[in-house]
Amino acid sequence: MLRLQSVSYHPAAAARAILDRVDLDLAPQKLTLAIGPSGSGKSTLLEILSGLASPTSGQVMWRDQSLFPESLQQLAGLVFQFPERHFCGATVLEELRLGHPEIQSEQLHSALHEVGLGHLSLNASPYQLSGGQQRRLALAVQLIRQPSILLLDEPTAGLDWSMRRQLAALLARLKQHWTLLVVTHDPSDLLDVADYCCNLQEGSLRFTGDRP
Ligand SMILES: Nc1ncnc2c1ncn2[C@@H]1O[C@H](COP(=O)(O)OP(=O)(O)OP(=O)(O)O)[C@@H](O)[C@H]1O
Ligand SMILES: [Mg+2]
Repeated sequence: MLRLQSVSYHPAAAARAILDRVDLDLAPQKLTLAIGPSGSGKSTLLEILSGLASPTSGQVMWRDQSLFPESLQQLAGLVFQFPERHFCGATVLEELRLGHPEIQSEQLHSALHEVGLGHLSLNASPYQLSGGQQRRLALAVQLIRQPSILLLDEPTAGLDWSMRRQLAALLARLKQHWTLLVVTHDPSDLLDVADYCCNLQEGSLRFTGDRP
């Protein structure tokens, strides 16, 4: 269980706190959906959880131990919004291997298989893939690192109806093994796969219904 305890984020440049005393528990093998409008702090929340930003106050706990951002970087895998814009490998193989030159081809294939891309040629260019395949590849890139927690920023943005449905089905499968947190302003395709839902408004997080 990863737990945020009264986490606030208020950089000096910001007039108000971007995250305001956020309490959040992420339960294993569950998908938590955080819904909020543009500017509510969704991406900032993921930056804190992935160790890219440090809380101004409050704690991030993992199994009752307080964590520093460096440990969170190991623990969490963050898939950015429009991850395909950050591809830098010339081939699928290069994209998967970036930062992990030692990786075994067995692990590559298992990550691709996990996201439904088992049939893909490792020599294909990431840019030739469909939008839905690119999102899956970005997920596979994170799965290779074997994070404990997967964080996804607006994973369905810019996908057509059928690709959004496919992505929701993939997330339903992935949550059997991973802890997932998805943030979005448009939850419609993801409500069915969510175990817990919360709303983020101007940096304040409130669970709707059950909480872990
Ligand atoms: N380092 C920073 N310094 C000052 N303000 C910041 C900083 N980072 C983010 N903000 C502000 O914090 C607020 C929340 O930003 P954030 O990107 O987390 O929102 P979001 O919910 O992801 O929005 P969107 O749906 O548009 O992606 C915004 O008003 C943004 O301008
Ligand atoms: Mg954002």
